[in-house]
Amino acid sequence: MTNIISIVNQKGGVGKTTTTLNLATYVGKKRKKVLFIDLDPQGNGTSGFGVDKGHIENSTYDVMVNDLPISEAIIESSAKNVDICPTNINLAGAEIELVSAMSREQILKNAIKEVEDQYDYIFIDCPPSLGILTINALTASNGLIVPIQGEYYALEGLTQLIETINIVRKKLNPDIDIIGVVLTMFDRRTQLTRQVKEEVENYFGDKVFKTQIPRNVRLAEAPSHGLAIADYDPNSKGGRAYESLAKEVINRTKNR
Ligand SMILES: Nc1ncnc2c1ncn2[C@@H]1O[C@H](COP(=O)(O)OP(=O)(O)OP(=O)(O)O)[C@@H](O)[C@H]1O
Ligand SMILES: [Mg+2]
Repeated sequence: MTNIISIVNQKGGVGKTTTTLNLATYVGKKRKKVLFIDLDPQGNGTSGFGVDKGHIENSTYDVMVNDLPISEAIIESSAKNVDICPTNINLAGAEIELVSAMSREQILKNAIKEVEDQYDYIFIDCPPSLGILTINALTASNGLIVPIQGEYYALEGLTQLIETINIVRKKLNPDIDIIGVVLTMFDRRTQLTRQVKEEVENYFGDKVFKTQIPRNVRLAEAPSHGLAIADYDPNSKGGRAYESLAKEVINRTKNR
């Protein structure tokens, strides 16, 4: 079975794209065939992989709105074994353009079917909202990863996220399950972060990954070079953390 995993949290700037991109890359280095789908109109994942958003021939927008077969949008990324379905700002229009579309929650799921067999893992980078794009991601996935930033308002909005997941599970996709929750931009020296960790563990129990992602400037620099951390500075703290997270993700998903 192909693991189709959405990285989701409607809160902005919590590390969704950084996590999706770096997980995809490290899983690719473990000789898995990986597809990264950029479902965020901001296209940070697309440019983070060195793809020029201004010169994309076909994008996730064409797949979502114009019925383009996803195989015609997919290109190779800068990372080994990782293909990407890139996006650009056009996708922002999809939220409105899809309002009256037939089975509009299932568009991505149906599109992925065409190429699913070619990949071991498909990672979907979600936008910071619970709109129709994220609903499409949830409907298409059989697993979710929730990044949570180790900061004061970390848990805010999580109830709404869990409710949305539960509704999608009931009405559209019985297969979705949270694979894990990852603490990002984590600073173990501060008491606040330790408190957040405790709260997140109380809430999610053993769903919380053992690996925490530290705040590390190399992770923030890598995308401006069009590279994932594995190809930019694998020995950085951030690089080692994402490699360790990738191992945990593979372990948690290998028998599915
Ligand atoms: N562990 C980290 N250490 C340092 N900087 C980080 C780390 N993780 C993410 N960043 C930086 O923080 C910012 C937000 O991260 P990212 O884009 O991954 O979040 P996001 O959840 O995808 O945001 P959005 O909701 O806008 O899509 C980016 O500038 C990124 O480079
Ligand atoms: Mg993002």
